[in-house]
Amino acid sequence: MKQVLLIGFMGAGKSTVGKMLAKQLQVDFVDSDEVIVEKAGMTIAEFFEKNGEAAFRQLETDTLKELASKPGIIATGGGIVTGEGNREALKQVHNVVFLKADPLVSLDRIMNDEHVIRPLVLEKSSDEIVELFTGRLKLYEECADWVVDTSVLSPQEVCDSILNQI
Ligand code: S3P
Repeated sequence: MKQVLLIGFMGAGKSTVGKMLAKQLQVDFVDSDEVIVEKAGMTIAEFFEKNGEAAFRQLETDTLKELASKPGIIATGGGIVTGEGNREALKQVHNVVFLKADPLVSLDRIMNDEHVIRPLVLEKSSDEIVELFTGRLKLYEECADWVVDTSVLSPQEVCDSILNQI
């Protein structure tokens, strides 16, 4: 069974594309954030509020260790590349795809997502979000086997681009 691991900033389309890709390839889809919510028994916003970002990163790192060897499609949280040892772990995984969206496009998608509250976005201004994206850009690029720009492509076009590569 094939494995594809999606990385990228919040709002880049990791979950949307991941689900579509899994359906088309008829493989499992796992969203790291959903695993964390299940483990913690609370939403990510609640977890941040109660335990802070450092505890979240630890849980995220532990979850990556569990998921990295699993076949299927894995969507990670936008901050996965910042966790201790995670970039080294990601470099060992095949088919790591960086879904890259313009930060302002990402911001627009995040603001219009009524299903998920992202604590980092609540805490920061638009300029700080762009700064966060810019700071992480090199980290995503460092870990990725290839990059797909999701700013202009539809989710299906992003899927097709990934399917052409694997
Ligand atoms: C985060 C991204 C979120 C989630 C958490 C922190 C980040 O996941 O893990 O709110 O640091 O960029 P998505 O990228 O799926 O929104």
